[in-house]
Amino acid sequence: MSLLVTGGAGFIGSNFVLDWLAQSDEPIINLDKLTYAGNLDNLANLRGDSRHHFVRGDIGDRALVERLLAEHRPRAVLHFAAESHVDRSIHGPEDFIQTNVVGTFRLLEAVRGYWAALPEAEKTAFRFLHISTDEVYGTLGPNDPPFAETNRYEPNSPYSASKAASDHLVRAWHHTYGLPVLTTNCSNNYGPYHFPEKLIPLMIVNALAGQPLPVYGDGQQVRDWLYVRDHCSAIRRVLQAGQPGHTYNIGGWNEKPNLEIVRTICALLDELRPRADGRSYREQITHVPDRPGHDRRYAIDARKIERELGWKPAETFETGIRKTVQWYLDHPDWVQRVQSGAYRAWVQKQYGVAAA
Ligand code: NAD
Ligand code: TYD
Repeated sequence: MSLLVTGGAGFIGSNFVLDWLAQSDEPIINLDKLTYAGNLDNLANLRGDSRHHFVRGDIGDRALVERLLAEHRPRAVLHFAAESHVDRSIHGPEDFIQTNVVGTFRLLEAVRGYWAALPEAEKTAFRFLHISTDEVYGTLGPNDPPFAETNRYEPNSPYSASKAASDHLVRAWHHTYGLPVLTTNCSNNYGPYHFPEKLIPLMIVNALAGQPLPVYGDGQQVRDWLYVRDHCSAIRRVLQAGQPGHTYNIGGWNEKPNLEIVRTICALLDELRPRADGRSYREQITHVPDRPGHDRRYAIDARKIERELGWKPAETFETGIRKTVQWYLDHPDWVQRVQSGAYRAWVQKQYGVAAA
């Protein structure tokens, strides 16, 4: 038995692959295009490990996916691969449509052909697990209840619209063709191997480099943070016991305004790696113009996965953010290597300043 993982060199995918192989000997075929966000450094500990089979390629390359399915005969596909950064989707939505919509469609078609020809028992046991986001539900007012699985889809950014489209395709492949799919919609993740274009790693990396900490608008936008390894344990649980055709919202009940997140990171760094001049990293916080169409609040109602599958996160925000800050302090080489030429060009475009 084996699993086909897409996007397993990205932030969440690589954490999933590492966690999986730390607990199981079931091999993983890892299909990843290695865009700017894919990084084989994340998987360095698996070098020479025959349980990890890495293939560089595109989920939209149907012939390649068909060949991998025929060769390895996985019992499940876990679909992480996506373009994932909202700000990049605002500057250039095309890649988001290509990978998240067209790529998911082609992947579904290749998987459908493989699945349809499986012997009955394997066909029944097969799963296609689609990893999606809470951003498909749009934005919440301050007093709205958190997103439940039954909320309407109201995506507001090119990124969330492309993920919503992919969720609809996955749903339709279940209803029309009977493909045994599972969809998870998760809140914002944080933790090791997070590319420093996203809020938490960007703030850690910029703070240490003496650079400004750019808070969009008033910094009162709320996100619901989940430690990445808790997301991975939820995915394992959904794969094991989720009902085909069902959707599971995943979150850790950790709603926080952005400014509070940035101040927490500054306080941890003041404690763990004080500035040479003895002043607080908070002095580096700067307010910059808001993101166009910026969603004000996301929050996940995780009661379904808790009730039906007995899943609960292991970390609180306090324990998870401390581990995360410590991880970045312990891995300056990883940070240095992801700050490639492409990374520098992005920082210049988005913030109008040179990268750290
Ligand atoms: P990421 O951007 O860090 O990684 C994406 C990976 O997909 C990269 O390794 C990249 O090389 C690969 N990839 C991109 N296009 C590809 C293609 N056409 N073919 C093959 N590989 C391709 O993203 P992430 O943060 O790890 O997110 C993983 C999944 O989880 C995404 O589907 C995302 O929408 C979803 N998600 C992310 C978060 C979050 O907070 N990061 C929250 C909820 C859901
Ligand atoms: P991000 O990590 O890009 O995730 P998402 O947009 O998918 O939620 O951003 C998290 C929040 O932080 C979001 O409200 C935008 C804000 N943000 C900043 O204030 N400054 C920044 O430099 C970045 C990257 C994000």
